[in-house]
Parts: sequence; C-alpha cells; structure tokens
Amino acid sequence: MNVLIACEFSGIVRNAFRAFGADAYSCDLLPCEDDGGDEFHFTADVRDIIRESKWDLMIAHPPCTHLAVSGARWFKNKAVEQRDALRFVRQLMDAPIDRICIENPISIISSQIRKPDQIIQPWQFGHGETKATCLWLKNLPKLVPTKIVDGRTPRVHHASPGPDRWKERSRTLEGIANAMAIQWGGWEWDKNPNA
Ligand SMILES: C[S@@+](CC[C@H](N)C(=O)[O-])C[C@H]1O[C@@H](n2cnc3c(N)ncnc32)[C@H](O)[C@@H]1O
Repeated sequence: MNVLIACEFSGIVRNAFRAFGADAYSCDLLPCEDDGGDEFHFTADVRDIIRESKWDLMIAHPPCTHLAVSGARWFKNKAVEQRDALRFVRQLMDAPIDRICIENPISIISSQIRKPDQIIQPWQFGHGETKATCLWLKNLPKLVPTKIVDGRTPRVHHASPGPDRWKERSRTLEGIANAMAIQWGGWEWDKNPNA
C-alpha cells in the first residue's frame, strides 16, 4: 500500500504507517526532522508529488495560518493569503488519489469549501489535551477513538515560546497517527461500520 503524508516535516504519521507495513512517504517544503527519515521523505512541493499515479492513500496537513478561525481577528488583512490557502486545500482534495484525509483545525474550510466529516480531540487518542481537529474524508471511515483519557488542557498551553513554536504546535500527535495507521493502513475499510 502506497501512502503519501502531505505537508509533514515530522515523519510522525509516515513512521506510524511504516510500522504497520505500508510503503509510506512524507512530503514537505521543509526537510524531514527525524533521523533516518530522508529515505522516505520528499523535500518538495506536494502538488508535484501527487501527480504520480502510485498513491493509494493521502493524508494531508495543509498550513492553517490563514485559515484557522482562531486567527479571525486578522482575516480582514489577508484576503489574498486566504484565497491561496483555500486553493491549495482544494488542490489536495481534488488529487487523483482514491482515499484522502485532509486535516486542519476549526477553519474557514468549513464555510468556504465544505463541512468536515469528523472532528476529533487528542483526549480520544490517549493525549490529555484539547485541540479540535477537523478531518475531511474521501472514501475513508471515520476514525474510532482508541483511548479516552482524562485531561482537557488546551494544547496551545503545552508549546513553549520561540521561533519553532509553530512546529511544536503543528506536529501530529502519535496517538492520532497510530489510529490513522491502524484503521486506515489495513484492509478493513469495507468492514468498518463507520465507512
Ligand atoms: C501545519 S504544518 C503540518 C505539520 C505536520 N502535522 C507534521 O507533523 O509535520 C504544515 C506544513 O505544510 C508545509 N507546506 C506548505 N506548503 C506546502 C507545499 N506546497 N508542499 C509541501 N508542503 C507544504 C509547511 O512547510 C508545513 O511544514
């Protein structure tokens, strides 16, 4: 199974899929940050990579800087950036790949393109934090929570100040990555009641 993790520098979702036997690659404009990940990472514009016909599944984490509702107070100054960011999301949604998940926080994708198929929280996947995360799904079942835990601290409070703060905040959580790999990397799609 050939899996593309679009807009991922961390390698977290890619490695989760590889651990379950998928031939998974990440792609980001940035180099990957995990040791040994180079072999399975494209430092490239993902729009060039999705043209290859080999992908069975893509999970994409497009930038939310100009889309997230949490930044609404700046919206009036960034119409052009928003238009470009939405165009990028549409290009990912329209990629010629059978199964697609687009991940983003609560954002204007919901009002400008379509509502998400599912909203998940870290605390449903073993992390005692809140961060509403929207999933737009094509031919994929909804993710089933794997481990509901206590703890409802907003995720933003875990990030320390500094130039790499955005990276800390944007890395996918391992519990969610593992759930994606287990539930979407296997061969059970047709049997899942949420499909
Ligand atoms: C919100 S971050 C996602 C980080 C991801 N969750 C992870 O764990 O690495 C969005 C990423 O999209 C990347 N990006 C933006 N435009 C891109 C493009 N055209 N092709 C590939 N990556 C892109 C950025 O460099 C950034 O790392």
